[in-house]
Amino acid sequence: MSLFDDPGLFGRQWAAGYDESGNPDPAPAVDFLAGLADGGPVLELAIGTGRVAVPLAARGLRVEGVEGSPEMVQKLRAKPGGAGIPVVLGDLADVAVQGRFPLAYLVFNTLFNLVDADRQAACFRNVARVLAPGGAFVIEAFVPNPADFERDERHPQVRTLTEDEASFRLHRYDRAAQTFVRQRIGFTATGVRLQPFGMRYLWPGQIDRLAAAAGLRLADRYADWHRSPFTAASTDHVSVYRAAPAFTQP
Ligand SMILES: C[S@@+](CC[C@H](N)C(=O)[O-])C[C@H]1O[C@@H](n2cnc3c(N)ncnc32)[C@H](O)[C@@H]1O
Repeated sequence: MSLFDDPGLFGRQWAAGYDESGNPDPAPAVDFLAGLADGGPVLELAIGTGRVAVPLAARGLRVEGVEGSPEMVQKLRAKPGGAGIPVVLGDLADVAVQGRFPLAYLVFNTLFNLVDADRQAACFRNVARVLAPGGAFVIEAFVPNPADFERDERHPQVRTLTEDEASFRLHRYDRAAQTFVRQRIGFTATGVRLQPFGMRYLWPGQIDRLAAAAGLRLADRYADWHRSPFTAASTDHVSVYRAAPAFTQP
């Protein structure tokens, strides 16, 4: 059991400033996902503060969520439209919801927040359990690049340098386990704050195998939410996995 197995860790560290931390514009993701929703309902794993879910629900779709952090959910609830989105507090690997969803999604690299290989596999199995026949599971994640690992380990990254705070980030990779630990270390007049963060990264082909083991097949893969072609040079991917369609008599 590691510190990073705790589904609430992220929110305790980051919820307070999450929406002000320069996250990507959700509009392209919302357009993409709305096009796959097939009328809903739609399930977001690790819904967070609703960066994507709130504008998706504003399109008239029923959106439900799973989230490990009460602090993140509190932020979601405070947003216009956020209070009406049902959220189950729990681990995204367990997908503890009822129903059949034409669309489920897990974006912003959050599959990698599951730092245990078995829990990543469980996540796919549990999503497959709640997808409607032919339903889509969309994953957005970065493509790991060993050159980044070297750079991250060698070079501390300065995050803030103001009159009140100096902070930087350090990384340590375990290349065999495909995990990394990142520490953000902040110094203020009142003391030092550690904000640990961990991930287990996967290459796209490894994610495809987890999906296949759960009975989901890769239907489409793009480099971004604008459906740019995915190539060997792509740094990110948006992958659409599909459940088997309903059996129909010939
Ligand atoms: C980078 S944020 C993404 C939030 C939201 N999906 C978005 O795109 O803005 C990662 C989210 O995953 C949640 N999280 C991390 N590990 C989790 C776990 N094991 N189970 C459930 N939620 C988890 C965090 O609390 C946080 O809300």
